[in-house]
Amino acid sequence: MKGIVLAGGSGTRLHPVTRAVSKQLLPVYDKPMIYYPISVLMIAGIRDILIISTPVDLPAFQRLLGDGHELGLNFSYAEQAEPNGLAEAFIIGADHVGDDTAALVLGDNIFHGQGFSTILQRAVTQVESDKGATLFGYPVGDPERYGVGEADPTGKLLSIEEKPAEPRSNRAITGLYLYDNDVVRLAADLEPSPRGELEITDLNLAYMHRGDARLIDLGRGFAWLDTGTHESMLEAGQYVAVLEHRQGVRIACLEEIALREGWITPDDTLRLGRAQAKSRYGEYVIDVARRAGATD
Ligand code: G1P
Repeated sequence: MKGIVLAGGSGTRLHPVTRAVSKQLLPVYDKPMIYYPISVLMIAGIRDILIISTPVDLPAFQRLLGDGHELGLNFSYAEQAEPNGLAEAFIIGADHVGDDTAALVLGDNIFHGQGFSTILQRAVTQVESDKGATLFGYPVGDPERYGVGEADPTGKLLSIEEKPAEPRSNRAITGLYLYDNDVVRLAADLEPSPRGELEITDLNLAYMHRGDARLIDLGRGFAWLDTGTHESMLEAGQYVAVLEHRQGVRIACLEEIALREGWITPDDTLRLGRAQAKSRYGEYVIDVARRAGATD
């Protein structure tokens, strides 16, 4: 499966903080926001990742992430020239996806929860073998701000609406989507919505109408954090800080995940930690490498 992180948009709801810096590069406590969605793809076992952003912001993502080889990943980059909608990711990313399946994660979505890697790996295997689309739902108090879905008891998607004034359920559709290869063709066939965008919800509706869309519930034990406002950004940072301090572990530490996946060695990890040794994050990476037996 190929991965795409969509990190476009103008972040107007966070002005003036996002006037000169892309929203997805802002810190969520100790790391840039985009680390969190990248970590989601990594724990799903995905190593080929296309980062899509605006022409102005893309070079900053390249400076931050490089080509990914140090993490055993393969990052590539593409521009979304205009904010034409989330589903455009599959038009821009058609060559990247090729004849493979695809996962799209929005660059501002933060997930955290016990057992997430198992859920994700199962979901990836299911899309690879049974085809279709898999979406992830999360109960929220303000569903009207999101895509909202309903599923039958087997998880088959029954309805999906984008920001409905009167939501039919409290299940927000999170910004993580798994698709079979038809997604490339279905995205190319989409018509722009009244607001002129290729909507991800219309893409999901195409799968739903084929009877081919599943909704996996991420229950109350999960955290799916919002970064849409100044308050929610601060809260997301505080959530990460509280957990990291209390547990002595780091959420979305890309070096640690790459090591755990076996994509880099303990010595590689140590080198990556040393390059950031003046920060607590770097010290943590060094610690992780030492515990894994780095000898360097
Ligand atoms: C987008 C999607 C929406 C989804 C949300 C998740 O909304 O259109 O369906 O629930 O991401 O973050 P946006 O954040 O672009 O308004």
